[in-house]
Amino acid sequence: MSDKGKMWVTEKDGIYWPSENMKKKAFITNPDIFEEAKENPVEFWAERARELIDWFDSDWERTNEWNPPFFKWFEGGKVNLSYNCLDRHIEDKGDKPAIIWEPEPTDEEKEVLTYTELHKGVQKFANVLKELGVGKGDAVTFWMPMIPETAMAALACQRIGAWHSIVYTAFSPEAVRKRMEDAGSDLLITADGFYRRGKVMELKNNINDALDRVEAENCIVVNRADTEPTMVEGRDHFLSDLMDGVEESCDAEPLDAEDIGFLLYTSGTTGKPKGIKHSVGGYLVQAALSMKWVFDFHEDDVFYSTADIGWITGHTYTLYGPLIHGGTTVWYEGSPDYPDLDRWWNIIEKYGATQFYTAPTALRMLIKHGRDLPEKHDLSSLRILGSVGEPIDPETWNWYFKKVGGGRCPIVDTYWQTETGGILLTSLPGLGPFVPGVAGTPLPPMNYDILDIDGNPTEKGAVVIKEPFSPGMLRGVYKNPDKYKEEYWSRYGEEIYFTGDEGIKTEHEIGGQKLFKILGRMDDVMEVAGHRLGTAEIEDAVQEVEEVAEAAVVGKPHDVKGQVPAVFTILIDGAEPSEDLKGDIVRSVRREVGPVASPGEIYFVSRLPETESGKVIRRFLRALLKDEELGDMRTANNPECLEEIADIVGYNGPQDVSGY
Ligand code: WT7
Repeated sequence: MSDKGKMWVTEKDGIYWPSENMKKKAFITNPDIFEEAKENPVEFWAERARELIDWFDSDWERTNEWNPPFFKWFEGGKVNLSYNCLDRHIEDKGDKPAIIWEPEPTDEEKEVLTYTELHKGVQKFANVLKELGVGKGDAVTFWMPMIPETAMAALACQRIGAWHSIVYTAFSPEAVRKRMEDAGSDLLITADGFYRRGKVMELKNNINDALDRVEAENCIVVNRADTEPTMVEGRDHFLSDLMDGVEESCDAEPLDAEDIGFLLYTSGTTGKPKGIKHSVGGYLVQAALSMKWVFDFHEDDVFYSTADIGWITGHTYTLYGPLIHGGTTVWYEGSPDYPDLDRWWNIIEKYGATQFYTAPTALRMLIKHGRDLPEKHDLSSLRILGSVGEPIDPETWNWYFKKVGGGRCPIVDTYWQTETGGILLTSLPGLGPFVPGVAGTPLPPMNYDILDIDGNPTEKGAVVIKEPFSPGMLRGVYKNPDKYKEEYWSRYGEEIYFTGDEGIKTEHEIGGQKLFKILGRMDDVMEVAGHRLGTAEIEDAVQEVEEVAEAAVVGKPHDVKGQVPAVFTILIDGAEPSEDLKGDIVRSVRREVGPVASPGEIYFVSRLPETESGKVIRRFLRALLKDEELGDMRTANNPECLEEIADIVGYNGPQDVSGY
């Protein structure tokens, strides 16, 4: 019998629990799992690894090695991600859709890639890479839109042990160049352009200058939009030309579980983006397990994640997770509001998506401009809704639950990070509870805690992860072990991972585990429209403007995007604040970082609050923008400047900031 329209949750005292239907269907329904997994966490992961993954050789020497703060998992085991996503499904599911691609233009047909077709494409692509001299341990940078060739390229890298380093298309060419240089990659894969809001966004032509400067050896260009970009003879190649006549088969290389699987650059607290290293084996095991348990993913499910491949969510759940399980993943090229604000609902209906995964920022936009549009579509195929990227406020939660889920589907609010590789904290569909605004419990056998500044457990404070760690955790920061230690393992010592987030242990619980509510970042990282950005990177870009003497950037609350970058600048002597100057600052940020980081607000001030040693205290700026209590202003060397800034930003908070 079809699952369409079934009730998957039931309400009790204003919160939601799995219904009988869900308990019948779900993989995990017994809360004892938390205790059981904790009895022997290493063995727990070893069993999952054997059960979920095909190994060429699963004879790893030691399942886990923990040498704080460095770990290894399944070392010596031989495995390949591309094999697990493709080869092992071919016999039974060759004709099944692996990827359903929806182009943005509505007059273009969808493209369905079966497992067999994807497998063929990936093998050919892998041979193309080999012919260009790419091999195991080489970094390949992508600046690619959501098109099937992107999936193929990523799987092709996995197949031969090359590391993809995928940069989101809303980052600038300059940002791509910096990441290519850091990774030492001399191949870029891009497209001529792609469709966004009915227009072609060019990629290749925009990156030509940056490519010249990075001295790239090769650039593969996918022709998506027939823009006929400028090509440099010998360096730039159309994919179709390279694929023509290339050898058709390419075996998946048995890689060591501890080999690097990919790099993904993310923003931290300094100007330079960090290349997060993920392993092949551990990442794969965690992606497989979280996909199965968190989304209760069954092999006939059709998974629709709106996350772009340029982010970790796009890696783990838009691409790899569904394929690891031989399921179907829906890829959409364009914007949620094209041609209308119901495009996503249309896609769910059209393909009968069973899970839908997105970010609160997008939901807030859709609520604002298209509150009732989900009702115009039959969304009864949906079973589970997911949220990721930032805390989901109860109002948005309720709309999502009622309008999109029809009051039938649980919302899994999944809390994780680029660094964790996969989801580590949420409510499981078959266990619950689902509480608006509350993320959930650590997944078994994870151990999260909330610590105060001295490292003592408390109710509200820093979110940390303690032993046992999961196999999917980052293996370091590329070429920068000190950065790795400093960012994650210094605040509470080398055995406790600091997430950078603030959270609360709520009174809700399941299986002896308290549910966590996540409040947001405590460090100098912003979440802008669900995208992680570092303040320092944007500050550096602002400083590039000649008239700027000093700059500080913090996140300012925004009703749709969650946060927008707010720039505070001090101008050099003789320079006057003006709209033109604001324009220069915005252009510089868009050039150096990308449109994704465009400032939402620019304030000209004469001083910034500083410590004795001259470090800007961004905490005060944040509090002023949020109308919050500033606390002891005397920690600033120059507290008198706060009065001026409060005035400029229109501070309306509880503290009296005058009189210094
Ligand atoms: C940061 C990580 C995880 C993939 C997308 C972002 C915030 C993420 C949640 C959530 C509250 C969340 C945190 C985290 N975040 N998910 N469900 N509730 N906050 O990955 O770019 O590495 O950013 O996103 O602040 O530290 P990322």
